[in-house]
Amino acid sequence: MKILLLGKNGQVGWELQRSLAPLGEVLALDRHSTDFCGDLSQPARLAQTVLAYRPDVIVNAAAHTAVDKAEGEPELARGLNATAPAALAQAAAQVGAWLVHYSTDYVFNGQGDQPWQEGDTTGPLSVYGQTKLEGEQAIVATGCKHLIFRTSWVYAARGGNFAKTMLRLAGERERLTVIDDQYGAPTGADLIADVTAHAIRSALQQTALAGIYHLVAAGETTWHGYASHVIAQARKLEPDGGLKVSEIAPVPTTAFPTPAKRPLNSRLNTHKLQHAFGLVLPPWQQGVDRMLAEIL
Ligand SMILES: NC(=O)c1ccc[n+]([C@@H]2O[C@H](COP(=O)([O-])OP(=O)(O)OC[C@H]3O[C@@H](n4cnc5c(N)ncnc54)[C@H](OP(=O)(O)O)[C@@H]3O)[C@@H](O)[C@H]2O)c1
Repeated sequence: MKILLLGKNGQVGWELQRSLAPLGEVLALDRHSTDFCGDLSQPARLAQTVLAYRPDVIVNAAAHTAVDKAEGEPELARGLNATAPAALAQAAAQVGAWLVHYSTDYVFNGQGDQPWQEGDTTGPLSVYGQTKLEGEQAIVATGCKHLIFRTSWVYAARGGNFAKTMLRLAGERERLTVIDDQYGAPTGADLIADVTAHAIRSALQQTALAGIYHLVAAGETTWHGYASHVIAQARKLEPDGGLKVSEIAPVPTTAFPTPAKRPLNSRLNTHKLQHAFGLVLPPWQQGVDRMLAEIL
């Protein structure tokens, strides 16, 4: 089997290099790749890559993920998050390949307190959310075999993440303020990559599995709950780690104004994915604790 991976050095892309390796030959590209084009800003050349390499599966882990920056550069965000996936999907349809793509909780408006299901009405609040939704719609419209995984609050041991920022601040300050009115599930890039590999194997046997799925760790928390867990766990792992913080104060989203509006309810219902692929999504704390054990 031949797999074309785009965005190989992002959080999810890096883990996909590991999880896809046992499935077959993986051609992993980033925007700087030279032999084949992996640059999302060049949709025609991306399509040429697909037609030349003729993969069985394309996995697109690249995207414009700078949520606040996207508000000021909507056309660039649209190019990377909607036009490029559309070109990949058209080329996938041409060569009969599967397209695996990632989307986001930001396609929803964040109202209510129930976990969103795949068929619920979308209503993005930001340019990022809107362009990611357009990407989903463009892929589905081409009729190519696709798996679109909507995920949220992604972290990885490699590179910067929310947990690392909290640990740094907890070492510098006695009081932290953290948002406590946005709800979601921190989800490890490693979990996303592993589920992707399992899902590809099932989908290759059963084309009817094509569709949109919610893929997040089990359970829910707020950024405040997440930060509190990280700091408590760090103290357990390193009792003499020198964390200064003595108070983690909960604050509303309005305390941290940002260019892009965030959904308050980012809970995603994952029953469809677990049932379709026979998989179990572990509690979010499990992956976070593992990541902390790796970085501390
Ligand atoms: N991070 C989250 O919390 C989150 C939440 C929900 C959904 N998602 C979705 O999950 C997927 C993976 O996200 P992630 O967290 O792994 O993101 P990430 O770490 O920001 O990685 C995105 C990758 O896209 C690459 N990229 C940017 N512009 C490109 C271009 N023009 N051509 C080729 N590659 C380009 C980046 O490369 P450079 O490093 O060179 O810029 C980076 O390697 C994305 O579809 C994202 O929308 C993420």
